[in-house]
Amino acid sequence: MFLKRCMPIALIAIVMVAIVSPAHAYDEIPPVNPDCIDCHGTAAGTEPAGPHGGYLTTTNKCVTCHTVHRAPAGGTILLPAATIKGTCDFCHDGTGGKGVYGVLAAKIPAVTVAAAHRIDTTNVVPGGSSGGGSATGDFSGITTDYLTCSDCHSPHGANVVAAFTGDRARSTDDAGGLGNVVVSSRLLRKRPVTATGDVTVYGSDWCAGCHKGRLSGSGMASNHPVESSVNLPPGGAASMHYYQYVAKVTTADVSTTTKGTLGKSNYGYVMPDPRTADQTGHDPICQQCHEDARSVGNVHPQQVDSTEVFTLTALDGAVTGDNPRFQTFPHESPNTFFLVELNDSLCLNCHAPPP
Ligand code: HEC
Ligand code: HEC
Ligand code: HEC
Ligand code: HEC
Ligand code: HEC
Ligand code: HEC
Ligand code: HEC
Repeated sequence: MFLKRCMPIALIAIVMVAIVSPAHAYDEIPPVNPDCIDCHGTAAGTEPAGPHGGYLTTTNKCVTCHTVHRAPAGGTILLPAATIKGTCDFCHDGTGGKGVYGVLAAKIPAVTVAAAHRIDTTNVVPGGSSGGGSATGDFSGITTDYLTCSDCHSPHGANVVAAFTGDRARSTDDAGGLGNVVVSSRLLRKRPVTATGDVTVYGSDWCAGCHKGRLSGSGMASNHPVESSVNLPPGGAASMHYYQYVAKVTTADVSTTTKGTLGKSNYGYVMPDPRTADQTGHDPICQQCHEDARSVGNVHPQQVDSTEVFTLTALDGAVTGDNPRFQTFPHESPNTFFLVELNDSLCLNCHAPPP
């Protein structure tokens, strides 16, 4: 069987189109179905960056995207599609409900998208000016300045942040199955387009590369306190929290804490009040409030109940009871503003109700 799980329906359609239109990234001469290596650029599943990096004189990855002599007329720099998004969707199917965009709409019944980093739709960044108002960014998408994939991701895996643990499971073909933990950079640029400096780790400072006005400290606009390089904890930069290093409850039903990654767990979304030694002096990072929607802290105050632990039993939100059901942050979310929980339920994850 050629058409493995990770090849979405829409892609099969693209492959079929390739029979009549000889202008696609991989070699469309029979066998028509792409082999694993045509997309992965290497033995599938062995490198989380697939064709996006690990280039050697002995690999043959460039041609998975750039066709040297047969790129379509509408394409740019020898890419298979006329837009960056089109190039990415070529393999990361954006409509079949397997990926990071289009997943909510593809569900039956469809789930409403309440927040998104929309592609090729806008260049206005809410909270993008240091005073707290919106800013207009000069991004890389169509009309030359709308937001697109490569404003956050480096297609070649160049100058990317340090590897971190993500929530999402990618394929049931994985040797580790759904439990496989992908630790990688996600190709996140150290300097997202419009940011003015490099960040080496994924955390508040990375988001603030575009959303400058959502940091707290240094005379910025008034915001909920956020841990970042302009609002360092008492221990200084060396003890600053970021996605791969936060204070989180040790396990279910306890108020003790430990330090570790926010990924593949729900334990970092609550903060016992009164604070523990690990938390004292530390403010939350953006992703402790803005991440995939999930249920935490709703049974016992500022704790994760045994019914609220991280649960992933199917790919791409197929099972409604999974917690988080969707792992599409920061692409799309069923919650407004990508909030982990809505209304007071968010605040009560970390604050005892005032008397
Ligand atoms: C049409 C392009 C394409 C082909 C052909 C393809 N893959 Fe994939 N594969 C992908 C993409 C894109 C992803 C990432 C999926 C995602 O993020 O939703 C992926 C993900 C995977 C993963 C998950 C790896 C991880 O880091 O968790 C495995 C395993 C995998 N593929 C195996 C295979 C095997 C085996 C074959 C050949 C039988 C194959 N793939 C053929 C595009 C392809
Ligand atoms: C996953 C798809 C993909 C692969 C694989 C890939 N590229 Fe690219 N490449 C792109 C995209 C997308 C752009 C446009 C980048 C942008 O506008 O930000 C690009 C741009 C370029 C450019 C123009 C300059 C630049 O950096 O923007 C060159 C040169 C280039 N690629 C060479 C290569 C070479 C050489 C390889 C193999 C070692 C390679 N690419 C592999 C997707 C890819
Ligand atoms: C030729 C097929 C192909 C194209 C085109 C492509 N990708 Fe990928 N991409 C893959 C495969 C295969 C993987 C590896 C999946 C795995 O093994 O986990 C991957 C992985 C990724 C990852 C995860 C990297 C990591 O380190 O965990 C990101 C992010 C990504 N791609 C974004 C993009 C973007 C943005 C574009 C458009 C500029 C794009 N891709 C175009 C095939 C492709
Ligand atoms: C490359 C620039 C860039 C980066 C990096 C970035 N954003 Fe955004 N953000 C935008 C733009 C542009 C919009 C407007 C998107 C739209 O209207 O579809 C936006 C919108 C938002 C929204 C409002 C979404 C809605 O639908 O109401 C939130 C919340 C947000 N971003 C949070 C974050 C967080 C958290 C991070 C870090 C994980 C982040 N952003 C990283 C550019 C960026
Ligand atoms: C505003 C910035 C931003 C934009 C725009 C964006 N991404 Fe991402 N993307 C991220 C971040 C941040 C992550 C890591 C999320 C995590 O693991 O918690 C990510 C993760 C991913 C992953 C890896 C998911 C996994 O399984 O680990 C893929 C694939 C991906 N993005 C593809 C795309 C494609 C394709 C586009 C455009 C159609 C796009 N992204 C646009 C910020 C962005
Ligand atoms: C304590 C929780 C919390 C933290 C931490 C947090 N936010 Fe928010 N954010 C919210 C809530 C709640 C909203 C909903 C609208 C509101 O109340 O202003 C929001 C709204 C937003 C919006 C969209 C509306 C607007 O006014 O701009 C953006 C963009 C945003 N946040 C970005 C960020 C970034 C970037 C960070 C980190 C630098 C961050 N947030 C940290 C809770 C938080
Ligand atoms: C992820 C944990 C977390 C969430 C969620 C959260 N907070 Fe906080 N909040 C903190 C921490 C940590 C501080 C720093 C002081 C402390 O330890 O209480 C803080 C401080 C505050 C302060 C004092 C601000 C100052 O300048 O001293 C207020 C007011 C506040 N939060 C309100 C809220 C509201 C309202 C919400 C819901 C929209 C919320 N918080 C959600 C963790 C959180």
